[in-house]
Amino acid sequence: MFDTMTLTKIVGSLCGALLIFLMGKWAGELLYDTSPGHGGDHAAGYVIETGGEEDAGAADQDGPSLAELWAAADVEKGAKVFGKCKACHKLEDGANATGPYLYGVVGRDVSSAAGFGYSGSLKPVADVWTPETLDAFLENPKGYAPGTSMGFAGLKKATDRINVIAYLDQLDGDTYEMAAPEAMEEEAAAEPAEAETEMAAAEENVAEEVTAEEPAVAEVDPAPEAEAAAEEPAAEEAAAEASGFVAMVASADVANGEKVYKKCKACHALEDGQNRVGPHLFNVVDRDIASVDGFKYSDGLAAIDGNWTADQLSAFLTKPKDFAPGTKMSFAGLRKEEDRAAVIAYIQSAAQ
Ligand code: HEC
Ligand code: HEC
Repeated sequence: MFDTMTLTKIVGSLCGALLIFLMGKWAGELLYDTSPGHGGDHAAGYVIETGGEEDAGAADQDGPSLAELWAAADVEKGAKVFGKCKACHKLEDGANATGPYLYGVVGRDVSSAAGFGYSGSLKPVADVWTPETLDAFLENPKGYAPGTSMGFAGLKKATDRINVIAYLDQLDGDTYEMAAPEAMEEEAAAEPAEAETEMAAAEENVAEEVTAEEPAVAEVDPAPEAEAAAEEPAAEEAAAEASGFVAMVASADVANGEKVYKKCKACHALEDGQNRVGPHLFNVVDRDIASVDGFKYSDGLAAIDGNWTADQLSAFLTKPKDFAPGTKMSFAGLRKEEDRAAVIAYIQSAAQ
């Protein structure tokens, strides 16, 4: 009888062999790949707004935005790119292979192909496979969903990713539409909130002091400034929890936070005033909830009073739709408290 480890090893070595094969193939194709396609009006209903500044580590990011690529996506080229997926994925409805069948995958719930034994690593990072989540996953499957059993290095070229997504999207004759993110106007006139800078700075100092030590939460005595930040008008126990979490943020691994932040990047910029699909996150810690000028919030988020204490942020990021029913942030949430603390610490440090 196989235990999970043995199975994982077998699958792993199979995937490894495939990977080498696929990477060779990919390298070959790179040599004669051309400019973005001119597929034209494929993208009918789906509008995507992503950041201009993408991952600095990716080589091909000086080009057009995801929205522009999507508008120009070339289904035929996508069919070719799919050659890299074929070894593991079938397109017919219900036909699982090494990977789950991909019929109708654009717009499908993550990890929902009946009868397929998923790793369990996809669910925590996304709810639904939209062009954005697929783009992020396919660029670097293991980076996006650590622990995924998809043994595939990723598609480094943004045009390859968008083309293959467009190809998958049209197979079921039903092009994916997203609830229109109306908040795409560029008129981001947000003013820097000076008062908040201080608070963030204070907390950051705490962070610096504490990170030198072991990140053992129990040992960390939340500094007075940090406690002041937890001004949630809630019961004492909530306050106690809040300060525990604030301490966790203070001792969090900012480098890990930067990694976690990759999940936010498609929709959020850290620069003041740069609204995208989501509002900019400059100095978001302790900022009033739903307060960025020029960003059109959902009624769900706008209805929530107060400010983004570390504790509130953590609650929101755990499961955005539970914290703010009706929110238009399409993000499944960060299950691990550690990840939430780290990403908040990173966002704070980025505002320095
Ligand atoms: C070496 C085999 C392999 C290759 C090559 C591969 N995949 Fe996968 N794929 C998998 C496995 C296995 C899973 C399940 C992952 C998990 O559960 O963590 C998966 C999952 C997925 C999912 C999630 C589906 C769902 O139901 O949630 C998508 C989308 C996907 N792959 C697309 C692609 C595309 C597009 C390509 C080619 C660019 C590709 N894959 C290449 C093995 C592969
Ligand atoms: C798919 C796009 C998307 C992703 C991914 C995403 N967000 Fe959001 N985010 C939004 C949108 C849209 C809103 C506005 C929500 C509303 O109005 O209901 C939002 C709102 C927010 C807010 C509230 C800001 C304010 O001004 O009140 C915070 C904080 C936030 N997001 C943080 C994050 C973090 C941290 C991540 C990554 C862990 C993340 N988001 C991932 C789209 C996204």
